[in-house]
Amino acid sequence: MTELHSQVIPLELAEHSYDITVGYGLKDSLAQTLKPWNQGQKWVVLTQQAIFDIYRPVIDALQSAGYDISPIIVPGDESAKNIKHAEQVWAQMVELGCDRSSILLAMGGGVVGDLGGFVAATYMRGIPFIQLPTTLLAMVDSSIGGKTAVNLSAGKNLVGAIYQPKAVLVDPSFLETLPKRNVISSLAEAVKYGFIRDTSIFDTFVTRYADLVALNDQALLADVIAKSCNIKAQIVSNDQFENGERKLLNFGHTIGHAFETIQEYGGLYHGEAVLYGMKCASYISHKKGLLDDAEFNAAMDVLNKFELPQLGAVEPSQVLEIVGHDKKNINGTLSFILVDGIGNGVINTEVTPEDIVESLSAVA
Ligand SMILES: NC(=O)c1ccc[n+]([C@@H]2O[C@H](COP(=O)([O-])OP(=O)(O)OC[C@H]3O[C@@H](n4cnc5c(N)ncnc54)[C@H](O)[C@@H]3O)[C@@H](O)[C@H]2O)c1
Ligand SMILES: [Zn+2]
Repeated sequence: MTELHSQVIPLELAEHSYDITVGYGLKDSLAQTLKPWNQGQKWVVLTQQAIFDIYRPVIDALQSAGYDISPIIVPGDESAKNIKHAEQVWAQMVELGCDRSSILLAMGGGVVGDLGGFVAATYMRGIPFIQLPTTLLAMVDSSIGGKTAVNLSAGKNLVGAIYQPKAVLVDPSFLETLPKRNVISSLAEAVKYGFIRDTSIFDTFVTRYADLVALNDQALLADVIAKSCNIKAQIVSNDQFENGERKLLNFGHTIGHAFETIQEYGGLYHGEAVLYGMKCASYISHKKGLLDDAEFNAAMDVLNKFELPQLGAVEPSQVLEIVGHDKKNINGTLSFILVDGIGNGVINTEVTPEDIVESLSAVA
């Protein structure tokens, strides 16, 4: 295994600024990395049983190094992002003697990070938390930017807070135990950055897709992750509360979200739905003359590399209805994200229902 240096990406947000550190093996030297935050206070690590079973040595090493840290385990699926579980975590933290100086370490994917951030934002009116993402989606997307939430039966992420972590520590070696389908679907968020901001990420997917999926080139993977983190950090730093530029991160998500909702019980992963959504958004970008024929073909070629489960029957009227209800459509204007050339995401308010219906031919 080659030794790779860590890359440090600053996320500038005045007094809420923090660093995202990307490096293989970070998890094996956490006691050292977390030292600046450790004043002998009580720590908790929020995680899920399957992750704890594999990565218990990471916690054991912190305890051996003198950290007063205890695990709190939440369910292994999306059901953990629920106010009932938040309440159980708050109660366990009281029992463990956590006070306002305590630190919550969120070791897991987006579910653990979103719930952990929400608990940290609210416990005793807010305690520090640190993200230790273990899925690729969490590494390139959800651990960065401070969106924390729990779900309601009426919909996902309906209750939450924008609450920034003190640090994000990204160790890609966690990905070695992640199911392949999860790796592939999470790469959707990375290729998305290629579409909206960085042609070098797009080109990497053109030439090295198989190596990325196989996780067999550490330098390459760390580079794509670090570039992705950098783009997310810049966008969040310019627009923390999603009034403008942060909307670009929704590329592929408007129609993707409709697919996700329609196929809820068919079990389409979020990233898979977004990949289908990016095909539709590329189609509309081409139709509007923002992508020329060659760029559109290149876009579809890259998206077609991803092995995806079949998209079941999709009723155009259902898609339109869900797109119309999307919580990001403020005042009835649909802010649709298109690309004006590969690498240049733009907000477009002129996408019509006819455009959306026609774009479904790209995924038929
Ligand atoms: N906050 C944000 O900005 C943001 C952005 C995108 C998505 N999200 C949220 O992220 C969640 C999805 O996150 P996800 O895709 O990371 O899925 P996840 O957190 O549900 O993790 C997927 C599964 O993999 C397991 N797992 C995690 N790491 C592992 C590892 N290294 N080895 C083996 N198993 C492992 C988990 O226990 C879980 O069962 C959704 O709730 C979504 O709403 C949040
Ligand atoms: Zn997404």
